[in-house]
Amino acid sequence: MTAPKASEAAISKAANLILAGELVAVPTETVYGLAGDATNGEAVALIFVAKGRPHFNPLIVHVASLAEAERHAAFDAAARALAEAHWPGPLTLVLERRADSPITKLASAGLRTIALRVPAHPVMQALIAACGRPLAAPSANRSGRLSPTRAAHVRASFGDEAPFVIDAGPTEHGLESTIIVSHEGRLRLLRPGPIVVPDAEPAEAGGAIEAPGQLAVHYAPSKPLRLGASERREGEWLIGFGAIPGDATLSARGDLIEAAANLFERLHEADASSHARIAVAPVPDAGIGAAINDRLGRASRG
Ligand code: TXA
Ligand code: MG
Repeated sequence: MTAPKASEAAISKAANLILAGELVAVPTETVYGLAGDATNGEAVALIFVAKGRPHFNPLIVHVASLAEAERHAAFDAAARALAEAHWPGPLTLVLERRADSPITKLASAGLRTIALRVPAHPVMQALIAACGRPLAAPSANRSGRLSPTRAAHVRASFGDEAPFVIDAGPTEHGLESTIIVSHEGRLRLLRPGPIVVPDAEPAEAGGAIEAPGQLAVHYAPSKPLRLGASERREGEWLIGFGAIPGDATLSARGDLIEAAANLFERLHEADASSHARIAVAPVPDAGIGAAINDRLGRASRG
């Protein structure tokens, strides 16, 4: 079967959309991904809106090379060996995030770790090169639907709201990448996939990280967090929204996409402040507001 060849025009149109903060559906060797600029918080927030997820799952960030990946995460010897053996290819590595990485914290849902992959598909590689930045891309389907292995699956999943799709025919593997976490010299398998890593132990339930999408440990601030705060109480750092300015705001104009983009930055900043407690102004539950409130609820209980 000969796949339709994605044109250079389609790749350059897609790169322009991504650099303008929009999303594009792209072929990879595993499944089609819904890609956005990983350094742009609002673009990454749009990924969650488009997928219709009621919470923030950390996303895989796609980069051009191992050298580029090393700018964003710390590689131990085991992780580097795996990357050298399998990249470019259908392997995702979950590693400690570098503090100076420009990737938005929303892409990794505020976690200390980040999932990185160097894809092998020539169209995805060309797109990453044309954009000149890392691309966050979950599978290009609405939450709860099957992962798309053809452009038509993407269009069927999103219907009238389908993004621009670069059609490069059916994907090679038809199955999402293998996810491996490398931590303190141990390799653990978070999601089985096309690459088999014999040394990896299955991730134990109830461990630090469970199956993909079921992270047991989320980033939680070290301080008590009060929700629905309309004013600052003594000792509190107030994170504002809309008409409530606070010490710092999720979005002064009350924009939920902007608020999602800023959420983890604001939480980390509040945690690092000299104030003993954190309060957050009310955020409406509409649209991506539900995911923001889900995350804030977990943070307040943690
Ligand atoms: O083949 C693939 O990996 C496709 C293509 C588009 O590259 N992408 C994909 O992404 O399957 P997504 O978002 O559907 O799956 C990413 C999985 C999630 O289930 C998430 O829980 C896990 O990776 N993940 C991401 N970052 C993580 C982290 N820091 N720690 C643990 N798990 C993480
Ligand atoms: Mg998926």
